[in-house]
Amino acid sequence: MKVLLTGGAGYIGSHTAVALIEAGFEPVLLDNFANSHPVVLDRLARITGQTMPFEQGDVLDTPWVEDVLRRHRPVGVIHFAGDKAVGESVALPLKYFHNNIGGAVSLLRAMEAVHAQDPSTAPTLVFSSSATVYGDPATVPITEDFPRSHTNPYGHSKLVIEDMLTALCAARPAWRVGTLRYFNPVGAHPSGLIGEDPAGIPNNLMPYVAQVAVGQREHLNVYGNDYPTPDGTGVRDYIHVQDLAAGHVAAIQALLSRGESFTVNLGTGSGHSVLDVVRAFEKASGRPVPYRIAPRRAGDVAQCWADPARASRLLGWQAKLTLDQMCADAWRWQSANPNGYKG
Ligand code: WQD
Repeated sequence: MKVLLTGGAGYIGSHTAVALIEAGFEPVLLDNFANSHPVVLDRLARITGQTMPFEQGDVLDTPWVEDVLRRHRPVGVIHFAGDKAVGESVALPLKYFHNNIGGAVSLLRAMEAVHAQDPSTAPTLVFSSSATVYGDPATVPITEDFPRSHTNPYGHSKLVIEDMLTALCAARPAWRVGTLRYFNPVGAHPSGLIGEDPAGIPNNLMPYVAQVAVGQREHLNVYGNDYPTPDGTGVRDYIHVQDLAAGHVAAIQALLSRGESFTVNLGTGSGHSVLDVVRAFEKASGRPVPYRIAPRRAGDVAQCWADPARASRLLGWQAKLTLDQMCADAWRWQSANPNGYKG
């Protein structure tokens, strides 16, 4: 059974493609390489021993997406394609609203058009959402019924897409949608052949720490150590990308078998501070990660971690991998690919 992955050459998409093959699915990758690299396709072939069908183009091109859907006839679609840098979204809101919301509208309209021609099919979609839709949570851990809010255009775009999907499912009962709210994805496939390869200076903690450890960056700036947390630094729910990929497989399987839509948190249910990550990475890499305390970063919250009970109940899914394993796999990827996919 084919599953179409928009943004399939990206960080989460590529890891999910491997997990789907291991679960017996046939991923079809769609990507415009705006935030990914063609080398990923070769790496995926080396990991899986097979060449996945690949479609190069933009999810905003609705007629083309319709053509892709008609040619491949996937049983489901996983929508990863979009921009995801919080800071950039504040500087370039229109880019985020256009690419993220416009891209989702385009994909949904293409799926609707294909379904209209064959009403016997049930449009099936897994959407890559984010814990950012919770804004600054009043308490932790966070459950799916917490109030949503947005503190930046990236999070706003995810929240709007979630609302679009809710309205679509209310109007079209045939649709089956799984919304996955990621917490902080980190780590890499244990082969070290695929991993996180941010363009330019990493916004996120783990890739920045990895680049300090490998010698690409001089030191880490710790954004604030005066938060109301055990060591004063920000606490987050870091989840191994392999666990996240498994969550997507479980989501598509649940939609295909039960046909009921759902929204779930994909997190471990425990939080780690910035300094916890620094220490774990030093242990995993055997390298020092020098850091300096810097002012707080605008928009950051003190603590954010998931209550993942609903995903366990509905999908039979739980994160299994530890922070040490996240750091060991991230280090294997970074040390084998000091310049990412650019070589
Ligand atoms: C984690 C912690 C920082 C960098 C964002 C998005 C979220 C998701 C993951 C897309 C915080 C601290 C960071 C650094 C630091 N992205 N930090 N120095 O902000 O929790 O979440 O990325 O889906 O939607 O909001 O992740 O890794 O940027 O920060 O001290 O150089 O590390 O203050 O406490 P964040 P992050």
